[in-house]
Amino acid sequence: MCGITACVGSERTVPTLLTGLDNLEYRGYDSAGIAIQNGDGLSVFKQEGKVSDLAERVRRRDPTATTGIGHTRWSTHGPPTDGNAHPHTDCTGEIAIVHNGIIENYAQLRSMLKARGHELTSATDTEVVPHLVEERLDQGATTFEAFKDTVDQLEGSYALAMVAEGGDTVYATRDGSPLVLGVGEEANFLASDVPAFLEFTGNVVYLENGDTVVMDADGYEISHRDGASIERPVREVDWTAEDAEKGGFDHYMLKEITEQPTALRQTIRGRIDPDRGSVELETFPDGSFADVERVQFIACGTSYHAALYAVQILSNRGVPADAFLASEYTAGVPPTDEDTLVVGVTQSGETADTLNALEMARERGLETVAVTNVIGSTAARTCDESLFIRAGPEIGVAATKTFSSQIVTLCCLAERIATDSTDHCPSETFVQAIEELPGMIESVIDRSTAEPAAIAYSDSDSYFFVGRNEARPVALEGALKLKEISYEHAEGFAAGELKHGPLALVTESTPVFAIATGSNEERMVSTTEEIRARDGPVISVAPADSEIAALADHNLAVPETHPDLAGVLANVQLQLFAYHTASLLDRAIDKPRNLAKSVTVE
Ligand code: M6R
Repeated sequence: MCGITACVGSERTVPTLLTGLDNLEYRGYDSAGIAIQNGDGLSVFKQEGKVSDLAERVRRRDPTATTGIGHTRWSTHGPPTDGNAHPHTDCTGEIAIVHNGIIENYAQLRSMLKARGHELTSATDTEVVPHLVEERLDQGATTFEAFKDTVDQLEGSYALAMVAEGGDTVYATRDGSPLVLGVGEEANFLASDVPAFLEFTGNVVYLENGDTVVMDADGYEISHRDGASIERPVREVDWTAEDAEKGGFDHYMLKEITEQPTALRQTIRGRIDPDRGSVELETFPDGSFADVERVQFIACGTSYHAALYAVQILSNRGVPADAFLASEYTAGVPPTDEDTLVVGVTQSGETADTLNALEMARERGLETVAVTNVIGSTAARTCDESLFIRAGPEIGVAATKTFSSQIVTLCCLAERIATDSTDHCPSETFVQAIEELPGMIESVIDRSTAEPAAIAYSDSDSYFFVGRNEARPVALEGALKLKEISYEHAEGFAAGELKHGPLALVTESTPVFAIATGSNEERMVSTTEEIRARDGPVISVAPADSEIAALADHNLAVPETHPDLAGVLANVQLQLFAYHTASLLDRAIDKPRNLAKSVTVE
């Protein structure tokens, strides 16, 4: 997720663009840039780092302009460097483009452009766009035609904005990535999201997929793919900039829970082929893991729960695997041999315990892979290889969408490792279920009864979560989520362990969440009966028509899916339960006490 912005007509275009980028920094923040048109030609300022670093540099030069575009980046192709920062320009430096999204056919377009003599200098997918525009201009097209013809060649998802030297016009389009137009009195604006320009205008036009906009100081024109002009309604927004960043949600956490379908679609894009039942990972061609005998995962917190889940998925495919808490890994060195693959699972890529453990594995000569959300992170730079979970930036301290994206990425990795290193045959049903997962999460969120359940059990003494196999890490994660944001006591156990101790704590005021994932239902039914016999209320997380749901006091329904993936759906229900419980208790949900998003100390 990146943020783009544009402004035409204001004498204060430069500070306006920088304010817009500042307000969009929640969408990504590893590099930033602007391109401005000021009568002397096009000037581009861009660099790695925060918007504030860019703003400081621009202010020192004090340029003026009435037309410009800007970008704050969250890397998806190429690390965060000055060269990979947007805007990107063509060979002549007369066309500048900013982009949010992914251009899927960029490799093909890049080779074609290079063969025709274009010099592409970045590692991004975006850079092909200004060069394609340059080609069409050389062939005699107008700037608008060149922009439109270029967009016709792109596959993937994008919001694009372009300025060309010598004109006070911004050209923009969207397909699959957001773009909003701001209609001001003397200036007009474009951005990925309303907060970018909300302090200048509250009159907005929400653009639709396939819309192209030509905008100058006097107005704007919107046309559709077929070239026909379109009128879109101008709406007035009455939110604050902060409300707008949260997209109308009260908290980032709830916004991020509801973003999971989109995040997962990004996670799996280009990585699975449901028809062939195969998984293709960009950094790991077929056979990459042929020599792997054992996998060791290293992680902390929620990422550790994702790692435990992956251990189960690998075990189901006959690959020996273990998950280690990173802080424990360094203390008691587990046995390894040269065929052990070490996978660090870390959303931020900056968790000190995980980095230390990965460093130790590297010192022992083991091959390391970082599974992370942040392209330029220390984990990604330190490990031999990286696999990105592509969840987009997560602001809430509680990990939600990154957990789901970690699990699905790890499921793809597990399928690849098992296919390469054992006689496991790729499973069509599994891969098809991965493809269906985002839609299923949508239906879980839409129909969830987690809020009434949270109200019903809000004055409980403690909350327990139990599950077997892949539902065990989900039970651990359900308890972690609830305790970290509600400050209520919560514990997760393997369901089979309940009778070895924790059952002594079960009373009528300790609800127990029983998580069933299809592969273990019969035994979860007996666990439920054990709890009910001690008067413990049972909240099952299971398909609506299951035996366990019929036995439970309340069921948080999940659709039937492949048992390896059912835990992801169950977890969404538990995220919502934690959220609503914390909300009833009026907790600081996005910034719980004593916790930080990224723990960079040991
Ligand atoms: O960035 P990481 O994934 O390495 O972070 C590890 C933990 O600190 C993190 O998962 C933490 O447990 C969550 N924020 C809890 O929701």
